[in-house]
Amino acid sequence: MEKIKLHTPCFILDEQDVAHNICEFKTALSTYFAKNIIGYSVKTNSLPYILKIAKDNGCYAEVVSYHEYQLALKVGFQKDHIIYNGPMKSKETFLDAIKHRAIVNIEAWREVDWLDDLPNDQEYEIGVRININTSLVSPEDEDHPEDDSRFGFSFESGELDKVFNLILKKKNIKIVGIHSHREPKTRSVRFYERVICYVQDIILKYNLSLKYWDLGGGFFGCMPNKPTYDEYSKAFFNALDTKLRDITFIVEPGNAIVASGFDYVAEVIDIKNHDGKTYVCTDGTRNDIDPFFRKSDYFKEFCYQGETSVFSQLPQVVSGLTCLEYDRMFTIPVGERKLNIGDRVIFHRVGAYTMSLTPLFIHYFPTVYLKDSKGHLFVIREEWCEDEFIQKSKY
Ligand SMILES: Cc1ncc(COP(=O)(O)O)c(C=O)c1O
Repeated sequence: MEKIKLHTPCFILDEQDVAHNICEFKTALSTYFAKNIIGYSVKTNSLPYILKIAKDNGCYAEVVSYHEYQLALKVGFQKDHIIYNGPMKSKETFLDAIKHRAIVNIEAWREVDWLDDLPNDQEYEIGVRININTSLVSPEDEDHPEDDSRFGFSFESGELDKVFNLILKKKNIKIVGIHSHREPKTRSVRFYERVICYVQDIILKYNLSLKYWDLGGGFFGCMPNKPTYDEYSKAFFNALDTKLRDITFIVEPGNAIVASGFDYVAEVIDIKNHDGKTYVCTDGTRNDIDPFFRKSDYFKEFCYQGETSVFSQLPQVVSGLTCLEYDRMFTIPVGERKLNIGDRVIFHRVGAYTMSLTPLFIHYFPTVYLKDSKGHLFVIREEWCEDEFIQKSKY
């Protein structure tokens, strides 16, 4: 790959890729569901430009805090194109969202009380999140025994019944939706089929007349040997009871939309040799591309400056800019091409849960470039410096 002028470390966003993913997911859903909504999961990557792409391509914004709610409004989402989930709603934004016909899914007890502050002379609609215990619903998809969830109201404990009854007593409030997000590590189609079967048994028991079912997110994006958007959508539809098939079906993908659209570029700034290894220091950091420190490798490629290849007699430990010993990204085995100062590592598919989880540790937020259809690059977020870091601080 030819070396282009970049301020590293940086992310590079491919707008076409993100728009393509949204369009493909929408096409798949529309094949089965006459009424469907994609609520882009803002937390997965809340870069304002990504929110704009989601909005321009017909997505709703799925938000889980009053900050995300305000962010979605600032970027231009209409209130009735917001899905408001999570325990971190403020009372003010919760009531505002319901009054303006956003899709609001109750997650916490205090929200049930807040409903009393809505005017009595009008009818309002809300949804309720159901708790999904993966070990109970689909043991084959559990990450560990007793793979429980702290979200939603549990049917088994009787709390879902309590929430339903409390809300049904409020004459001006109608339960019109169910939210059932749960994300298994496997992201398997089977898991979602089982969630649908589990939840609809509950819905049918309560004889709720629902307008929407929000299945949440957690799906694979376009990747070889992984379920496609069409396979997921078809399975959702087939698992649904025929009585529920004309419901508005909502998904809240984040990973499936944004993971593949981002690259991260780090440049080699120093090389040391000791203890039988070569330590390659880059100006990037694992904090930017693996904030949970769980990845063992990456989709990556190298961009070398020099023409001649020299092969290393030592393993090369490619590391980050921070002073954390464990800020090591990967090790290149003996016998592979040697990295030199100025060479670059390009990490692919790093758009999900990276930028939104980056800490402000040692190096502040990196530059983000937008790559257009001709490959030209434009800055869509400048690198954060001390001025951005210091804002709103007294000193
Ligand atoms: C309620 C909710 N919806 C959607 C998502 C998006 O998940 P993903 O990015 O894996 O699609 C999440 C992720 O945590 C979530 O909590």
